[in-house]
Amino acid sequence: MATAHSLILVGFMGAGKTSVGRALAAMLGWTFEDLDDRIERRMRRTVPEIFHNDGEAAFRRAEHAALQESLHELRTNHRIIALGGGAFVRKQNVNLIEAAGLATVFLDASGEELWRRCCEQSAGERVERPLLGDLESFRELYAARRSHYLNASFRLSTNGKSVEQVAIEIIAALSLESCSQGEKQ
Ligand code: S3P
Repeated sequence: MATAHSLILVGFMGAGKTSVGRALAAMLGWTFEDLDDRIERRMRRTVPEIFHNDGEAAFRRAEHAALQESLHELRTNHRIIALGGGAFVRKQNVNLIEAAGLATVFLDASGEELWRRCCEQSAGERVERPLLGDLESFRELYAARRSHYLNASFRLSTNGKSVEQVAIEIIAALSLESCSQGEKQ
């Protein structure tokens, strides 16, 4: 298998895509990008504001455009990209990722564990997730999306593991190599 020069993290809300992505990037000397941050910069609004003012369909269009832009910037860059929980469910986004030839990692966890993490984040870090809903709708949405996440090139269970442990396991499983400062961008 060729050594990956960029990597996409996918999974449901609370999977740890952002925290694992940051840890991985720090360990490897790669850059990290949270796709939701790019969407917010491009739209000059927060994700909850986009959902509330323009609706989910507008958010999905913005998400696709942001992914296209981000993938366009990749050439020999070493970058970890964390997608929002709904991005990998959409065929047009999967097509872009496949065309770019990038490896994808599904950060898996049980519905209960994901719900617990999301509740902790909304209370502690005040993370607002427009699609969080209640436990029942959360479980249903996860069940509907899980088969899409399983199309990722690699699946890793994160239940009961620390962010660092997950990052180390990804590095080992995909034989990722750190890069020198000059290679980074
Ligand atoms: C979404 C998840 C969010 C964000 C948006 C939509 C989803 O990202 O992209 O609120 O559809 O599951 P996280 O997965 O980082 O919470």
